[in-house]
Amino acid sequence: MTSIELRKKFLNFFKDRNHTVVSSSSLVPNDSSVLLTTAGMQQFKPYYTGKVDPIRDFGSKSTVSIQKCFRTSDIEEVGDDTHLSFFEMFGNFSFGDYFKKEAIHYAYKFVVEELGIERNRIYVTIFAGDNSVSGDEESFKIWNEEIGLPKKQIKRRGRSDNWWGPTGSEGPCGPTTEIYVAKNLDDARLGNGLEIWNIVFNEYYQNKKGDFDKLEIPGIDTGMGLERLAVMTQGANNIFETDLFIPIIRQIKEVSNGLEPRIIRILADHIRSSIFLIADGVRPSNKETGYILRRFLRKVIVYGSKYDIHADLFPVVLERVAEIFGEIYPDLKNKEEILNVYYEEKGKFNKALSNGLKIFNDFVLRIKPENSIHKLQKILGIGRFQNIFHGKEAFSLYETYGLPKELIQEFCEEKGIVFDEKGFDEEYKKHQEVSRAGSEKKFGGHGLVLDTGELKAGSQEDSEKVIKLHTATHLLQQALRNVLGNDVKQMGSDINSERGRFDFSFNRKLTEEEIEKVEEEINEIINKDLPVYYKEMSIEEAKETGALYFFKEKYPNKVRVYFIGPKDGFPSTSSRPAELGEARPKGVAGRAYSVEFCGGPHVENTLKVGKFKIQKQESVGAGVRRIKFGVITA
Ligand code: SER
Repeated sequence: MTSIELRKKFLNFFKDRNHTVVSSSSLVPNDSSVLLTTAGMQQFKPYYTGKVDPIRDFGSKSTVSIQKCFRTSDIEEVGDDTHLSFFEMFGNFSFGDYFKKEAIHYAYKFVVEELGIERNRIYVTIFAGDNSVSGDEESFKIWNEEIGLPKKQIKRRGRSDNWWGPTGSEGPCGPTTEIYVAKNLDDARLGNGLEIWNIVFNEYYQNKKGDFDKLEIPGIDTGMGLERLAVMTQGANNIFETDLFIPIIRQIKEVSNGLEPRIIRILADHIRSSIFLIADGVRPSNKETGYILRRFLRKVIVYGSKYDIHADLFPVVLERVAEIFGEIYPDLKNKEEILNVYYEEKGKFNKALSNGLKIFNDFVLRIKPENSIHKLQKILGIGRFQNIFHGKEAFSLYETYGLPKELIQEFCEEKGIVFDEKGFDEEYKKHQEVSRAGSEKKFGGHGLVLDTGELKAGSQEDSEKVIKLHTATHLLQQALRNVLGNDVKQMGSDINSERGRFDFSFNRKLTEEEIEKVEEEINEIINKDLPVYYKEMSIEEAKETGALYFFKEKYPNKVRVYFIGPKDGFPSTSSRPAELGEARPKGVAGRAYSVEFCGGPHVENTLKVGKFKIQKQESVGAGVRRIKFGVITA
């Protein structure tokens, strides 16, 4: 039985039983309590509560539909025989029309008589009951006494299996009975089968607080995955061997070579899912559904390079998806627009990816190899050796390059590195708070005047420019010291969105060569894309790092020290004021290029500064020189 035949059979079966056929609603629901449509009942929620009259809208208190659904909850399972992110759900619904008896009889009749699945292969589950709701004996009787299903094929299960309701939002809910299909009677008795149909008895309404209110009119909500049904009726071993997937899988195999079956399945699922999301109006972004789509698309793109797939899979899979589903979902015929969304995201991501991978590979090069002592410790079970990709560092890949968290996680897994998920999540939360506070500060209507008092900017664009020039100022001071000697000290600076100005102690004009050397050094550092970060510490500790500061200035007890260079680095000795003697790194590896007392803000990574250029040099009195400089951002 083809999937087209299945669709017709299902809709007609219920149409013949006074159900009105309702078409699928969009994957993006009207209902703001959920991000995506995850079940057929979602578009019918107001009918269960009696808020809206089904007779007025459908001419009937019962409906039937085939609903496009999207679930990210099973994402880890995608690639096995039965799970998908996008799928279609058959469902019949009653809003105060019929209840348990009819719902169970309909389902049984459809599965056994219409689909021809032998009764011996079926078993069902019912709600066993718990402290708050008693067991569903009514359903037991219907299955056992009316249908005649032997007791061994009826299993009682708890709330986690046989209860359906919204998680974290509000909606109708209640106990369920589920139909499973096994290979044979023995397996059915043992409970080894695949769930195909979930029948929910909506007797309650779960409110926002999570309490249950009894619904005035009990309702029916059923859901049966089309793909699993196709497995049963097409003699397939898994969902990917059904007519809903065969052309897609074949297409991917054809243009890629020797991909592992699980990867082919994941690609088939993710590309198909993305296509349906785009067709329903979702666009890639960093928020909500947009982020879900972005993650899917980016994973597909990453797999392209990770598994060395030379063909661009998305466009060819789109052709197959449009052939299989175009008649049913006409929006899929808009192939050009769907492709544009994909290409635009691909362009953005490729840029981000190559930069992000560079950073990650740098990290991999820095990690400690496992040595023989570690191995021995492991054997003895006392080993603690692990390479950890810390949250902060991982988060900067997300923030700066837009690499999805899941992807970073995968990179780590592949290299046997522990991904510090908790740390990542903490950074994420912090970042949200900071960016909220930041935008208030930036757009408060007063322009941007920073702690140092040396920066002024109006619009957001101006602020960004000023911040780049601010970081460039730190680089400039260090480069001047490296080229001209440690007598160079900052005497003042002034930045606006057009240029930076830096005054420093030095008693002659710089030669062309020196100017070039300074520029070269700065651009070299910028291209190394070093992290820029700060640490808050006591004034004593801060001085101990060897950071540059104004000797004249009075600092508070706690100061911020900005580092440009590897994390936990200390200043290179050349930048350390002679009067402080040798820096003592206390076992911390890596040396920062620049370390200065500063309130910030700065760019997060030097690459963000852009290309550095000295525009002019002049004298401003005895022993003080001035340099004007700019940055060019791509
Ligand atoms: N709402 C139930 C489910 O999604 C039945 O349709 O399983």
